[in-house]
Amino acid sequence: MSFNPFPIKNHQLYIGEHTVSSLAQQFGTPLYIMDEALMRHQMRLFKQNFKHKFINTEVAYASKAFLNLAMCRMVDEEGLHLDVVSGGELYTAKQAKYPMDKIIFHGNHKTRDELQLALDYKVGLIVLDNPFEMDTIQHLHPIQPVPVLLRVNPGIEAHTHDYIATSRLDSKFGMSIFSDETLDLIEQLNQSEHFDFKGLHCHIGSQIFDGTSFVKEIQALLQYVKRVFDEKGIEIEILNLGGGFGVQYTAEDHAIDLEATLPQLLDTVYSETLRLNLQMPTIIIEPGRSIVANAGITAYTIGATKQTPSGKEYVFVDGSMADHIRTALYQAKYEAALVDRMNEMADHHYTLAGRACESGDILIHDCLLPKVEINDILCVFSTGAYHYSMSSNYNRLLKPAVIFVNEDAIRIVNKRETYEDLLTQDRL
Ligand SMILES: Cc1ncc(COP(=O)(O)O)c(C=O)c1O
Repeated sequence: MSFNPFPIKNHQLYIGEHTVSSLAQQFGTPLYIMDEALMRHQMRLFKQNFKHKFINTEVAYASKAFLNLAMCRMVDEEGLHLDVVSGGELYTAKQAKYPMDKIIFHGNHKTRDELQLALDYKVGLIVLDNPFEMDTIQHLHPIQPVPVLLRVNPGIEAHTHDYIATSRLDSKFGMSIFSDETLDLIEQLNQSEHFDFKGLHCHIGSQIFDGTSFVKEIQALLQYVKRVFDEKGIEIEILNLGGGFGVQYTAEDHAIDLEATLPQLLDTVYSETLRLNLQMPTIIIEPGRSIVANAGITAYTIGATKQTPSGKEYVFVDGSMADHIRTALYQAKYEAALVDRMNEMADHHYTLAGRACESGDILIHDCLLPKVEINDILCVFSTGAYHYSMSSNYNRLLKPAVIFVNEDAIRIVNKRETYEDLLTQDRL
């Protein structure tokens, strides 16, 4: 059986009160379907087990996982902060009337224009990655001190894919806690009239299943907080621990247990600050994937099959790596099902392939399904995070629509692209 968080009734897969098959019929395929109730449930889980456990805690949704106007509104309604990494994400939040003082602006190389936009919008926190960003902001002559964190890298090995591990010593992100330059930069930020230096940020990687990686991160960071205080007399008010909580994609995965891990992180912060005789800082976490991944599926129509001389059986769907890049990018594993044949044994091994002109355009390498029929509606599970946000127009393929389903309510939150949309930026 595949990993499936959604109900099955009369052999049909449901999201909210709708069969996936009826949604596919009504809105066409490929189609991203997101269960709004499940996203809200995940946000509330973070609030209950983290934000409401201590006074000085905040949860920021890492919008890179999935962002549009409707998502910004939902994050605001649920009372979460918002982490953005580009002018585009920032602009989206502004247009959605998301409160700018709850924005945390990240990125290893924010452009001058993006930093100017962040100053104009008066965002809550800018997370500086390096001294160049400090210089850029100084040259923009901010009218008030800019509240900033500095991203540091404690060199923690989180056991995850190379591309989503961000805290190795040679990572492109942040400043090493082992370098004197970092301590000097903190001192400069603290002394500068242009900055209101608030503290440190760190994100050790994504798809982390082992809570001890976070515990090690906290221990390393608080040791560093102590060093900053002892050597420079600077107190750290805010410690942002990043995101990366691992989710289940397949039946074999074991998602991190948020109800056990989140309080454990706070306990660690509490006991370590006591042990090191430090002031308790405000603690922020930034989950992205763990809020949206499982809430999303992608529905496709099966259009053809092909058997190679070696016996490999391909199933071709009407989507591609343009709407599902993570298999090609990270060798990520997924599972699929035929949405109106959920009762049948999934005993055929298929290679689920897209329609892009690339041999690497495979969505699932070993996809277990019942014997497929042309026009079956197939869904790939757990596509809510880093799918729509990583989608492209490769081969000039059109981006699918995104719909939110909340019990019986359905709304289109991103329209399906048209051929005309493709030409909006073209000029002869
Ligand atoms: C700085 C930062 N915070 C939070 C996240 C969210 O990570 P995840 O979606 O794995 O929770 C990321 C992901 O790359 C990140 O770079």
